Amino acid sequence: MILISVILAALTWAVSAQTASTIVLTNDDGWATALVRAQNNALNSAGYNVVLSCPAINESGTGSSTATPKVLTTPCEFDTCPVGSPATGFNASNPRLNYVNSFPVDAVRFGIQTLAPQFFDGSKPDFVVSGPNVGNNLGSTVLISGTVGAASEAALEGIPSAAFSAATAAQVSYTTLTTSPTSTDTEAALIYSALSIELLDVLLASSAPILPPGISLNVNYPSTSSCTSTSAFKFVLTRINSDPSATDVETCGTTNLPTESSVVGMSGCFSSVSVFNASTKDDVNAATQAVVLAKLESILSCS
Ligand SMILES: *[C@@H]1O[C@H](CO)[C@@H](O)[C@H](O)[C@H]1NC(C)=O
Ligand SMILES: *[C@@H]1O[C@H](CO)[C@@H](O)[C@H](O)[C@H]1NC(C)=O
Ligand SMILES: *[C@@H]1O[C@H](CO)[C@@H](O)[C@H](O)[C@H]1NC(C)=O
Repeated sequence: MILISVILAALTWAVSAQTASTIVLTNDDGWATALVRAQNNALNSAGYNVVLSCPAINESGTGSSTATPKVLTTPCEFDTCPVGSPATGFNASNPRLNYVNSFPVDAVRFGIQTLAPQFFDGSKPDFVVSGPNVGNNLGSTVLISGTVGAASEAALEGIPSAAFSAATAAQVSYTTLTTSPTSTDTEAALIYSALSIELLDVLLASSAPILPPGISLNVNYPSTSSCTSTSAFKFVLTRINSDPSATDVETCGTTNLPTESSVVGMSGCFSSVSVFNASTKDDVNAATQAVVLAKLESILSCS
């Protein structure tokens, strides 16, 4: 009996060691916000091998800006590191939690180029998760979004990625998750992080390549005010920018996908998934949309 348990444990370990995808987690709101820490917890619970690399402070709206990380001249957000802290640093009791005192692009770059090889046996990560962001990034907002900027940077470095943004969110500390477990912010953070896992589990289990090169996904979650459990939500394939003359992939009886703004604004708990070009942050052609549609078909619905 003991021997069987040992063999089973070894097999389980071998299988998970073989299949655990490696993930760099980033955002633009900063390393200590509740949303990104809830996502980190959820990714770890789901068995992913995760390193968090985020800006030291709120860098919302900085798009694809980049600069060399600098020594802190203000404390990290929520006083999580003092003035004078080094340009990059980590939580002394958990070195997988890292800040980078620069833009989201620099934080994800540090995660991919420096941290991933250190934690993932010399390898690049399998995937980059950016967000969830505090607030939606819909339509032309993607152009200034640091969350989308970081996901784009990953794709341009050859790492498949997705940006996630959430309607019900405030820029509160990760400590809220434990000090106020029944607050709106905590409950929303838990729902959104669970939804991201639902999408990532399907995407990362799909055959290689995880996504076509040079593209990324822009995922937006609606408010949790009338959508109070994960099971209430449905993912819908969308486009970022309205273009009535575009011929998109055929799905839900049309070859012109609904815009993400229209879908997230509807009642019915719809989350949008748009496929975008990481260089232009604009919609991709029907053939590229079709690749993503095929991969995510099992979780996509019509609005
Ligand atoms: C974060 O930065 C954005 C853009 O500058 C700003 O709108 C937002 O209020 C900031 N959040 C906090 C909590 O300071
Ligand atoms: C650092 O990690 C410890 C142990 O997990 C935790 O208690 C603490 O809140 C963390 N601090 C930050 C800023 O991540
Ligand atoms: C992205 O856009 C650029 C510029 O229009 C184009 O050259 C490239 O082929 C596009 N990439 C994808 C994957 O659509």
